[in-house]
Amino acid sequence: MSHPLIIAIDGPSGSGKSTLGRMLARELNLLYIDTGSMYRAVALAVMESSINSNDDVAVGSLASRVSIDLRGEPDSMEVTLEGRDVTEEIRSEEVTHLSSVISAIPAVRRAMVARQREMGERGAVLNGRDIGTVVFPNADVKFFLTAVPEERAKRRFVEEHTHDSSVSFDETFADMAERDQRDATRIDSPLTVAEDAIVLDSTGLSIDEVLQRMIVAIRERSEKRKS
Ligand code: DC
Repeated sequence: MSHPLIIAIDGPSGSGKSTLGRMLARELNLLYIDTGSMYRAVALAVMESSINSNDDVAVGSLASRVSIDLRGEPDSMEVTLEGRDVTEEIRSEEVTHLSSVISAIPAVRRAMVARQREMGERGAVLNGRDIGTVVFPNADVKFFLTAVPEERAKRRFVEEHTHDSSVSFDETFADMAERDQRDATRIDSPLTVAEDAIVLDSTGLSIDEVLQRMIVAIRERSEKRKS
């Protein structure tokens, strides 16, 4: 693989994409792009504006105008919106919900995909819902991570609890199910498994076990390409 290496990681929420994406980026010395945080930043921009979140045209136009940046190392990535650090703010429940809603708007997707291609073209590990299908359909290696809903909700619950201790497990589970359903059934770029993706079910596996499987798969693909 002489061209810059592009690794796509897609999957539903709580499938381990962020943790594994960060670990892989570190291991391979590549840029890490968490595309979900970009949709989250757009959602926050909508919340802070006078725009109605149901107004697709206005939300799409805002998405194409706002400045969103991902800075820093994989483990300490900072997300900025118009230069302001919003890394923590974009993890709120309200932003989580709205990011799923506004990410179904085609104009929002067009704006984000264009930026993601620009950011990733020199090599990156990207995670999201449409990386292997839409953003980089020619990615060198595509992973589709998944796990049973109970386990994914458990991971989300632990994560969310550090931000908001009033959320119950049942609420997290219901919210996650609703969001996954929306992300997988929208018309534009729904969450689907790319034809050539390696599907990894992490149920019952440790993060390290999944990471090792991903590294082996990347090595195998690199060898195949060389021969
Ligand atoms: O990965 P996440 O939970 O931070 O993503 C937040 C929302 O953004 C998610 O509900 C769906 C959307 N998203 C998307 O539509 N496409 C992507 N590539 C990444 C995220």
